[in-house]
Amino acid sequence: MNDPNGMVYHNGTYHLCFQYNPYGSTWENMSWGHATTKDLITWTHQADALHKDGLSDMFSGGAVIDKNNVSGLGKDAIIAFYTNAGIGQTQCIAYSLDNGNTFTKYKNNPILTSSEPDFRDPKVFWHEATDKWIMILAVGQHMEIYNSDNFLDWTYKSSFGEGEGSHGGVWECPDLVQLPVEGTQKRKWLLICNINPGGPFGGSAAQYFVGSFDGERFTNEAPVQTKWMDYGKDYYATVTWSNTPDNRVIALGWMSNWQYGNQLPTKQYRSATAIPRDLKLFEHEGQTYLKSEISKGLNPFLHKISSLEGLNVNKDETLENITKGAKAYQVDMELKNESADKLGFKLFNDKGDGVSFYIDAHKKTLKMDRTKSGLTDFDPTLAYMVKTIAPLFLKDDLIKLTLLVDTCSIEVFGNGGRFTMTNLVFPQEQFNNIHFFSYGGDFEVKSISVQEIKTK
Ligand code: FRU
Repeated sequence: MNDPNGMVYHNGTYHLCFQYNPYGSTWENMSWGHATTKDLITWTHQADALHKDGLSDMFSGGAVIDKNNVSGLGKDAIIAFYTNAGIGQTQCIAYSLDNGNTFTKYKNNPILTSSEPDFRDPKVFWHEATDKWIMILAVGQHMEIYNSDNFLDWTYKSSFGEGEGSHGGVWECPDLVQLPVEGTQKRKWLLICNINPGGPFGGSAAQYFVGSFDGERFTNEAPVQTKWMDYGKDYYATVTWSNTPDNRVIALGWMSNWQYGNQLPTKQYRSATAIPRDLKLFEHEGQTYLKSEISKGLNPFLHKISSLEGLNVNKDETLENITKGAKAYQVDMELKNESADKLGFKLFNDKGDGVSFYIDAHKKTLKMDRTKSGLTDFDPTLAYMVKTIAPLFLKDDLIKLTLLVDTCSIEVFGNGGRFTMTNLVFPQEQFNNIHFFSYGGDFEVKSISVQEIKTK
């Protein structure tokens, strides 16, 4: 699989479609698979939503609910927007009148065309103030904004992107959502812009812009700064669910990178999404940034395994078998630096595979090194062999880290989601030990706890 698609909440169920190849495990024959959940964690596969149209692929897009039947396709229809990618790329719709069990392609497709070769990944949302449906589309290296009353006829309104953010590659999978700014009464707009290549560590990545949106035009409030949704190498094609309860903005990304996504050393499947994340904004040193929290849906699936408080690290401290054999687990830790220049820890297994995390106390950064984490030689270009680095966005002098460790991935949430770092890893067996280290002084592990993630 690759991108999440058609994400919409309807009658108590979250729908998730996804780009996939029904006939193989590399990118080809792009179709929309379909899965559903009530809790955002445990999923049930459903029949595929969309298959190829002749020779054309079904590329990415979003979905909405037509509550007032403005399209005439049926009250409460799920309307999925997708890109038909053949000789050119055009925007099309398919609709479902049976809660997503089956989708019918609209007979008068396409609904929007262009002469631009890269013209794709429509995301549609309701804009209250102008009483219109808005579509944001990725077009080459910019975004285009259209509006409509009926989902079928679209009017071009504006373009965004020239001279803004990173332009190392083509812009893909856009989204535009309004979010509260933590600790204030403000609400601002977040424009998500996936880019490939051009990511901070090579290949694919998700950048974002914060600003205002008047229904026709998005204005970026910080044009000189490039902001990243995640500081790992494997977090791409991120977009949000439509029609969610309580106006929650829940994002989902694909945990991979087009540099090696077709070569990953797994069998019977290839790729997964990251954990669903609740999005907010926060202010830090005069700028507004994205905060990504682990969806609370995970809480019922956490089971305590081990914990410890007040461990002073002078040079080295090892805690063995802290996971008690768990296949997937969450580690929460609070670290307080006393006098170290560098501090950190390594998760490792008994076969010698390990992932190291280094905190630079002066630069206030976290670096993750997966170059000795297990299978690493599947990618002849060595694009996989990188260390990723994130600013800590500290609030006070406590460094709080939450790690979600699964069979082939580690997602780091720093300081309550003020930064995240998502990286794939392929250890020969799960990491079960942790080794803390410090250079140039001491630090304290104020607390560490490990909880198993168990869904069955
Ligand atoms: C992003 C992307 C989209 C496109 C889809 C095709 O990963 O390239 O722009 O719609 O994948 O599978």
